Amino acid sequence: MKLVSAKEMLEDAEKGHYAIGQFNLNNMESVRAFLLAAQETKSPIILGLSGGTAKYMGGYRTITDMVQGFVNFLGITVPVALHVDHGKYSEVLDAIENGFTSVMFDGSAYPIAVNIERTKEIVKLAHAKGISVEAEVGGIGGEEDGHIARGECADPIQCRMIADLGVDFLAAGIGNIHGKYPTDWEGLHFDLLSDIKNQIGDLPLVLHGGSLIPADQIREAIRRGVAKINVNTECQIAFTEATRKYFEENKDKESKGFTPRAVLAYGLEATKAMCIKKLELFGSIGKA
Ligand code: 13P
Repeated sequence: MKLVSAKEMLEDAEKGHYAIGQFNLNNMESVRAFLLAAQETKSPIILGLSGGTAKYMGGYRTITDMVQGFVNFLGITVPVALHVDHGKYSEVLDAIENGFTSVMFDGSAYPIAVNIERTKEIVKLAHAKGISVEAEVGGIGGEEDGHIARGECADPIQCRMIADLGVDFLAAGIGNIHGKYPTDWEGLHFDLLSDIKNQIGDLPLVLHGGSLIPADQIREAIRRGVAKINVNTECQIAFTEATRKYFEENKDKESKGFTPRAVLAYGLEATKAMCIKKLELFGSIGKA
């Protein structure tokens, strides 16, 4: 199965009132874990790459070839999209040239006029190659240097201006944050979500920072039009906790337990299990 654009799977999810999971790659084990989770549950899936991980894993061409190679090797038959997460302009161009099937251009830090201009250029270049495009309005907060920034809420009118450029799906800040949420977090802003949805019609909405949001809020967000949810932190935590358990159980001291493949096996299984848990919550199981 060749890697696919994310457009069709998101349109189906938006119509069917479920969400597709985007799971961010961190290493080779995560590629394997997510592909196996999607195949086992017959769920379409999006694999996301941050700029930092793209550099760590050898650049966009290496990653495209590696993911496509794994898809072939493992006999994956469910739709898999390979997607740039929060791409800078230059990163998106690089990924478009090197086999990615979906890109997010994050122009949310620019003034809206610049965001519009750049997004428009990316849509033209990507669509010429059948690559789907995600854009963003309203910054998503997150933890940096021990401080959790709240992020901005998106302006529904600006969302419509970006939607009108022909993007395939739109990320909008609605109180969501990347990483861990502060203890006094007030939750997702559902009225704002519905206002945005009213402005953009059938265009699928994307929820970033999908880790550690209570399940009832995830279900409500999907009910109100979210069709793609990004998850990274919870899978990273699952990987690290399982790896710690491996050492606490002194597995590395047993037989060939010191080999890197054995050391990472617990983390791989935990990542896969977390991915399946999220696919169940998002309702995408059996949709492929
Ligand atoms: P989390 O790390 O909070 O799951 O967010 C992932 C994300 O939104 C990637 O764009």
